[in-house]
Amino acid sequence: MSPHADPLHHRRVWWKEATFYQIYPASFKDSDGDGWGDIPGILQRIDYIASLGVDVVWLSPMFDSPQIDMGYDISDYENVYAPYGTVEDVERLIDACHKNHMKIILDLVINHTSDQHAWFKESRSSKENPKRDWYFWQPACYDEHGNRMSPTNWRSYFAGGTWTWDEHTQEYYLHLYDSSQPDLNWENEECRQAIYDSAMRFWLNKGIDGFRVDTVNKYSKVLPFRDAPITDSTNYIQPAAEMWCNGPRIHEFIKEMNRDVLSHYRTYDDQPVVTVGELSLCSETDSVIPYVSAIQRELDMVFQFDITHLGQGPPGCNDKYDFAPWKLPEMKRIVEKWQCFIEGTDAWTTVFNENHDNGRSVSRYANDSPEWRTHSAKMLALWLIGQTGTLFLYQGQEIGMINAPKDWDMSEYKDVESKNYWAEAIRLTEDGTDFTRKDRIRHGLQLMARDHARLPFQWDGTKNAGFTSGEESWMRVHDDYREINAAAQEKDEESVLAFYRRVLRLRKEHRDVFVYGTFELVDAENDDTFVFRKRYQDKTALVALNFTTQAQPLPEGELETMDLLVSSYAKVVPGRLQPLEGRIYINYPNQF
Ligand code: GLC
Repeated sequence: MSPHADPLHHRRVWWKEATFYQIYPASFKDSDGDGWGDIPGILQRIDYIASLGVDVVWLSPMFDSPQIDMGYDISDYENVYAPYGTVEDVERLIDACHKNHMKIILDLVINHTSDQHAWFKESRSSKENPKRDWYFWQPACYDEHGNRMSPTNWRSYFAGGTWTWDEHTQEYYLHLYDSSQPDLNWENEECRQAIYDSAMRFWLNKGIDGFRVDTVNKYSKVLPFRDAPITDSTNYIQPAAEMWCNGPRIHEFIKEMNRDVLSHYRTYDDQPVVTVGELSLCSETDSVIPYVSAIQRELDMVFQFDITHLGQGPPGCNDKYDFAPWKLPEMKRIVEKWQCFIEGTDAWTTVFNENHDNGRSVSRYANDSPEWRTHSAKMLALWLIGQTGTLFLYQGQEIGMINAPKDWDMSEYKDVESKNYWAEAIRLTEDGTDFTRKDRIRHGLQLMARDHARLPFQWDGTKNAGFTSGEESWMRVHDDYREINAAAQEKDEESVLAFYRRVLRLRKEHRDVFVYGTFELVDAENDDTFVFRKRYQDKTALVALNFTTQAQPLPEGELETMDLLVSSYAKVVPGRLQPLEGRIYINYPNQF
């Protein structure tokens, strides 16, 4: 048997071969003119979504929420945020996806709730309340001068501390994110059961096909609480991921969630439901494997974020938006690591380079100038479809949407994280701690802020890009929507949209080598081109990508025995890759 035969442990399963398409409800399509996208808007565009050739819709949070963190702060799991629609609208969407042979998964945000959730309101009401222990409450500490101090020195995700003082009951509560997002106490059995019922079974009973599990490795905290070591001399608060990430009981909690809830449900076409976890701060393959090894029965797959952290400081530190230039070999090593880590195991991997928490891939990894952005988007499409694992696309990626223009004022950035990092940068610049910080953080946000992905979808060249019929949208529409929009691309066979449809079909046709193949990097140290080989039994594919705006040589030798499957250019030139061109060559076994 060939050494590259499909190993038994990479069993073919529907969700490995599926392409997922993430919809961010606020920014997809507004049906009623209030400037916010909504569920009826998604329903209006269901034919468009199905036409892409995607298999699963992942809907970002549409639950009731005060929207401090765009719905990742849920005040009622069993209700829908009114501007997005109703529970019945979501039921209609579930039905419409299924009728179009697509599955649908929801976001499962259960590390924390909003402070407006009834559970937290009760918990906060008194120290004796039966739900007091559903969140983490701690008495104050005092320094040598008698000043009140938080229980620990931990830094939160959004550039502040993790503890907020509650006047009413005179204690602090824990929040890894914004102060309006208190962490649920998973140590409390009753609390876990309530989460399973309200956030999970409620929607599984309505027929959804699985979940994207938000912040999945943070439910278990190191107890009793203690300070993190001091590594940042500019702040009192300190990066503290080791205190709340991949904690002592995390695998037990995820196993329980799977065993007691998920394993009892099937998809609309009677297959196992799917889970994909958001796994931050887990950079060792050995620590990722237990989450996704099939035999462990925890999660089907996770997002590991080294690729989207390229150019960023470590998450949870104040450097996240302090951009550090990177070179192509660094990117290649990341891709190689997370492509190869499943080989010889029963684990699975994911392929993506965009989501609602990152800048647009064309702007971050390639070239978003008018001359090069179409080529860049197509080249990056080949980078994705050639990789092993489950493919996730983010709305607008299929039309090559790019970051907000650089000349936009910082007030156009609406995200809580961007605002807090920006405020911190102003403070540290003005108090003399770091004189150039403001400029550096502005630059970082222009490239990497979460806001870029949240700009309204560019449907057509009419006012507000056809996103809303109202005067204004919740976030400003990109200035370039007349040049980059879906309607124009529908009419253009050379468009990014047409290209995505084509290559998603090719990925399916050659799923053996693209979805399940083994990965080998070619010419790892080359700064200009990214070339990799995929193998499946006797079949080989070679993906060659030019990341520069100059022509580059193609690898010599093996291509002579291979056929060109696809190029991102309409006309190819022998022997070299044109600027920002991508190509895939393939050889079929026993071909004469
Ligand atoms: C996840 C979400 C992000 C959110 C955070 C807090 O990282 O992707 O958007 O801010 O969780 O829920």
